[in-house]
Amino acid sequence: MNIQQIFAPIQEELAQVEARLRQAVRVEYLPLADIFEMLIGSGGKRIRPALSILATKFHPTDPEKMYTLAIATELVHAATLIHDDLIDRSSTRRGTPTINSRWSGTATVLAGDFLLARAADIAASLDNFRVMRIFARTLMTICEGEIRQDFARSHWPPNRDEYYKHIESKTASLFIAATEGGAILSGAPENEIAALKAYGRYLGMAFQMVDDILDFTADEKELGKPVGSDLRQGTFTLPVFYYLENDARDKPIAEMLSTQVDQLIEAIRHSSAIAAAKAEAQRTAQAARDALAIFPDTIYRRTLADLTEYVVERTL
Ligand code: IPE
Ligand code: IPE
Ligand code: MG
Ligand code: MG
Repeated sequence: MNIQQIFAPIQEELAQVEARLRQAVRVEYLPLADIFEMLIGSGGKRIRPALSILATKFHPTDPEKMYTLAIATELVHAATLIHDDLIDRSSTRRGTPTINSRWSGTATVLAGDFLLARAADIAASLDNFRVMRIFARTLMTICEGEIRQDFARSHWPPNRDEYYKHIESKTASLFIAATEGGAILSGAPENEIAALKAYGRYLGMAFQMVDDILDFTADEKELGKPVGSDLRQGTFTLPVFYYLENDARDKPIAEMLSTQVDQLIEAIRHSSAIAAAKAEAQRTAQAARDALAIFPDTIYRRTLADLTEYVVERTL
């Protein structure tokens, strides 16, 4: 199933999200409004707003609150992409030139900060202290995750526990904010909030594992962002750990990293590490699926379950 088919049960809500996102980035200062419009207009899968919408669907929820959370979540995501592309020195995102490829580093950081503040402003309008606190902590967690990953670059030998910490902080935390926040807004009981939180965590971890696999295997045009860049920049991701464990034998990996990184990427791409990493993403997605067990079998639960399959199979 492709993402449009999976999101069919909430397609009207997602259409609303599109309109409201565009509205939300119509800021006064035109250079900012222009780059935000370009970033939001260039697409994206909208997984995080979809998650926050789906998480509200087990109890009657004020639609305005649901949309507010959905938009705030996507704006945080967009802001972290602005910062991430600067950190990773990426030239393309969603098939279009990144902000850091057109603006100075300083202006790019500030544009990302501006958008984070806009997201916080929108989240604050929920008037929900618990959700606001989750938001604030998520921002801290994402920043810390990105800094930790940046400081771990090229550290030999790579540390697998650190890797899990990075992906949980930089990616799963926002998935959690979306699902936990949605559950709280819907007035769900604590056991359901905890279940949707666990679902978001596992789904986010699996999602980033697959992102890291796609960095080795995907087609750059289809993906809309550079491939092969993680290892080239000294970031060790899941396929690398499996390659070191199962395929590297006595190859001088540490030396290859500085002198023959393209050959190393090619070797990993054609090794059993890719299937092994995918199997781990699959198990993690299954854990997300298991967290849904306490919910009634509705179309929304099925959509959340379908997403756990999609994140592993996706090609962009
Ligand atoms: C990209 O996220 C950043 C990661 C956490 C890997 P997405 O793959 O959800 O990006 P868009 O929004 O669909 O472009
Ligand atoms: C995810 O990591 C970054 C964020 C959570 C913003 P990546 O650096 O792998 O994301 P991509 O591949 O650039 O989208
Ligand atoms: Mg990146
Ligand atoms: Mg990536």
